[in-house]
Amino acid sequence: MADFTKKILITGGAGFIGSHLVRLFVKKYPHYFIVNLDALTYAGNLENLRDVASFPNYEFERGDINNEKEMARLFERHQFDGVIHLAAESHVDRSILDPLSFARTNVLGTSSLLNSCMNSWRGDLKGKLFYHVSTDEVYGSLGKEGFFTEETAYDPRSPYSASKASSDHFVMAYHHTYGLPVIISNCSNNYGSHHFPEKLIPLMINNIKNNKPLPVYGKGENVRDWLWVEDHAKAIDIIFHKGKIGDRYNIGGYNEWKNIDIINLLCRIMDKKLGRKEGESAKLITFVKDRQGHDLRYAIDASKLNRELGWKPSLQFEEGLEKTVDWYLENEEWVKHVTSGDYRHYYDQQYEKR
Ligand code: NAD
Ligand code: DAU
Repeated sequence: MADFTKKILITGGAGFIGSHLVRLFVKKYPHYFIVNLDALTYAGNLENLRDVASFPNYEFERGDINNEKEMARLFERHQFDGVIHLAAESHVDRSILDPLSFARTNVLGTSSLLNSCMNSWRGDLKGKLFYHVSTDEVYGSLGKEGFFTEETAYDPRSPYSASKASSDHFVMAYHHTYGLPVIISNCSNNYGSHHFPEKLIPLMINNIKNNKPLPVYGKGENVRDWLWVEDHAKAIDIIFHKGKIGDRYNIGGYNEWKNIDIINLLCRIMDKKLGRKEGESAKLITFVKDRQGHDLRYAIDASKLNRELGWKPSLQFEEGLEKTVDWYLENEEWVKHVTSGDYRHYYDQQYEKR
């Protein structure tokens, strides 16, 4: 342990973005010791991190950010220099079905983790950092024009975005009130490998492959700004090391797509890969009842991050989408494992009445 120059706690590291971030940090920084704390909810999967599981600078700890005693023991044992906080309930549709679990994990869990940091770092905040990974959804919904900047007023509209907005406020409150060194980043929609197939892109890939209906909410006109997940992880790396304490950074792909256009593109890509006739997969498209309170459009202005810290997205969407489809087709076992149990129950509940 003595040889490590930094000890970092990453929460939610068994999830989609967290696993990409853990992999990046463990491989890129062999002189850092990385502890991945994750409760392994339905969304957490250690298979995501098989390739780094036995690295000497990596440890997994199963635990809940809400459990103060467990957190105190963990902080005592490791004396972390930094925390990168991703653990959360992350799916908007689940937040509509069960808002309180989002308040528990995202609001109370984040506040509790902030307390754990304060208790552990009390009196010695120099060189410490609490980095909070948040979402562009805290800014609400855009019309046809404009972008979210770091100055856009918060206007969350779903229980998920309200819980993330609230957690962001707690993070800034700990900075202003107690002097806790914090940074927040707000990112747009991520896509890539290891994405749980309840979210749009992996759900559509899985359903196309299995010849199941492709449930498009409303008219499919809603717009999201898509970013390759590894580009998000790289942005977090840069901000963690070079970002200004007390500041916030928007991260986005400059890559806006209507849902229906993405689904059609996926159908075309998969027709080719699965040897189907052109247009065959698109016949599965089924327009269903809209999401309640469905935000129309998100689009991020990430120019501050580019100007101040030099980050920009690396991958074209069409290339990223092909890579993503290939990963899902090559990793059927992963999909089988994560779509059992809780997911099946959720899927029936979510789509049976639409
Ligand atoms: P995810 O649902 O794939 O992963 C969340 C992880 O947190 C899971 O491994 C889960 O087991 C863990 N977790 C949940 N509750 C916990 C608890 N109480 N204690 C410890 N661990 C717990 O989510 P994701 O898509 O990887 O998102 C990660 C973070 O990034 C979230 O905070 C989310 O709000 C934010 N974010 C996501 C996106 C996106 O497009 N997915 C975009 C911007 C921001
Ligand atoms: O913007 C960042 C956010 O992006 C993250 O903070 C969230 O954690 C992440 O889940 C994501 O939220 P969205 O609600 O935008 O993602 P989702 O994949 O659930 O939906 C994307 C769009 O596709 C949205 O307009 C709803 C629509 N949709 C989704 C599903 C699951 C459908 O039309 N049909 C579906 O079956």
